[in-house]
Amino acid sequence: MRITLLSAFSIIIVLVFACKSRTKENKDTGSAKFDNIPGRKWWKEAIVYQLYPRSFKDSDGDGIGDLQGIISKLDYLKSLGIDAVWLNPIYSSPNDDNGYDVSDYQNIMKDFGTMEDFDALLKGLHERNIKLVMDLVVNHSSDEHEWFKQSRSSRTSPYRNYYHWWNAERGKPAPRYSLFDVNHDAWMYDSTTNAYYLHYFSRKQPDLNWENPQLRKEVYDIMKFWADKGIDGFRLDAFQFVSKDTTFPAFPKNYEKNFILYYAMGKNLHSYLKEMNQEVFSKYDMMSVAEGAGNSFEDAHNLVDADRKELDMAYAFEGVDLGNPKGYDLLQFKEVYSRWDSAFAEKGWLSMFLANHDQARMVSRFGNDDPAFRDASAKMLNTFILTMRGTPYCYNGDELAMTNIGFDKIEDYRDVPTLNEYQYQKKTGGNMQDFMEKIKNNCRDNGRTPFQWDATANAGFSAGTPWIKINPNYTSLNAAAQEKDTNSVLNYFRSIVQLRKENPVLIHGKYTLLDKDNPKVYAYTRELNGEKWIVLLNFSKDVVVFNFNKYISTDKSLILSNYSNAPKTAGASVSLQPYQAVIYDLKQ
Ligand code: GLC
Repeated sequence: MRITLLSAFSIIIVLVFACKSRTKENKDTGSAKFDNIPGRKWWKEAIVYQLYPRSFKDSDGDGIGDLQGIISKLDYLKSLGIDAVWLNPIYSSPNDDNGYDVSDYQNIMKDFGTMEDFDALLKGLHERNIKLVMDLVVNHSSDEHEWFKQSRSSRTSPYRNYYHWWNAERGKPAPRYSLFDVNHDAWMYDSTTNAYYLHYFSRKQPDLNWENPQLRKEVYDIMKFWADKGIDGFRLDAFQFVSKDTTFPAFPKNYEKNFILYYAMGKNLHSYLKEMNQEVFSKYDMMSVAEGAGNSFEDAHNLVDADRKELDMAYAFEGVDLGNPKGYDLLQFKEVYSRWDSAFAEKGWLSMFLANHDQARMVSRFGNDDPAFRDASAKMLNTFILTMRGTPYCYNGDELAMTNIGFDKIEDYRDVPTLNEYQYQKKTGGNMQDFMEKIKNNCRDNGRTPFQWDATANAGFSAGTPWIKINPNYTSLNAAAQEKDTNSVLNYFRSIVQLRKENPVLIHGKYTLLDKDNPKVYAYTRELNGEKWIVLLNFSKDVVVFNFNKYISTDKSLILSNYSNAPKTAGASVSLQPYQAVIYDLKQ
């Protein structure tokens, strides 16, 4: 019955009258609204779109997305209203880990194109006022990088100390857990020099030795090479792990259950970041963000407080880690996001995201990918990301509500840690049924299936055979169809992006959680310079009545909702439809 009702409403989204006139009004007065806001920075006000190049658009029919493919979609990117693109790695790589194993930091991966293509992409983005943030993968390189080839060739190579080696005559070093290794062992024996090298990720991703000033200088030169080309920022991959105690002491038993406690925030991390800031970031107008934020608020602040001159914003995982297609606790979700907001209310700046290339799809983990609720819940989740304080990172495809593909067969997977873990589980007598069920829901390949452009063969992604299967729901869930539908997730995404861009209250405004014990509704206000808005998000598939009485007595006029029939004003309470998002202006 509820489903029928829902399809009757067809989960439509409109900017209601009030919103239309408001948006116009904001455009006219937009710049004044941004006056007198302290601490403004472009990267605080930017909306970042994360683009996974391998799966975005293939221009040459090899089944792999590429730079010319992205270039052909620049107007689409512009149409989203986003301000910056974070591009996953595009450097030369043998692709053990989809480009996170770099063999040449100053060249482009053959699958993706050429340096000329890169220059054209950067120019095309800049012409459209879109900035480019590159992924910098320097906790490790590929074992096919020239540095590593030299390093492994002899114990006396000038490159030996670019990596972490342990001579075998000393015995086996204290265990280190590898996230990607088929035996979980981060030490790999290499017979050429009778020594072990360290790899926190796959065997083809040896860890670089940041203790070596020569290596650090090489990295800063690489960063300057790209900065001089005019890129606008770096996302530092796995960077919290770079500083290691190179005596490699033993860790307590079961350390691997919480390896971040032992691996992250090594004692020299901050001095490296300060040096990097001085050598690179301070010389350019760039944004900087590292993956991970340590183990505490103190760690996170120490990475990003402006007076420390290290990084610009923290990218913390506590919230996104709660996502689970089988359900998660909204009270905990609210508590986590509120706690982080309050810890950063006065100082520092956060990233806001519910997905990236290492996660299964946002709507499948945090929303509801049943076709009856998919669009409404995706719109609601996009509303969350775009109405919280902190720089929003929107992962490509989430503006369409792309869902988990949920492979059943191991042959369909491409992800290196998943394939290695499969081997490990088999070898150690793991429960394979449980394992297959787990990866079906959580494997990051779910978030890497090709972008669904249209209903033609291969979703318009490629004329060849895609490197990974396309989600069969592309025939109805695709950008072309949503382009035409004013009520689509895509068009709602554009509306909420515009709303944020024109209203600093959503960017800089104070955040206050309301009704914290409500198990179905996430309610909060945002306040700035006499303006106060309330955001109500129904995270459930039930109709829920939200009672304002205790919290708000002023008039409420509708700004935006993901349901067409949301009342234009609200009284003492409001009835929220399944996964409804609604924003009211609280007239003071
Ligand atoms: C980061 C990346 C991930 C990659 C890993 C190793 O976590 O986001 O995709 O596999 O580092 O580079």
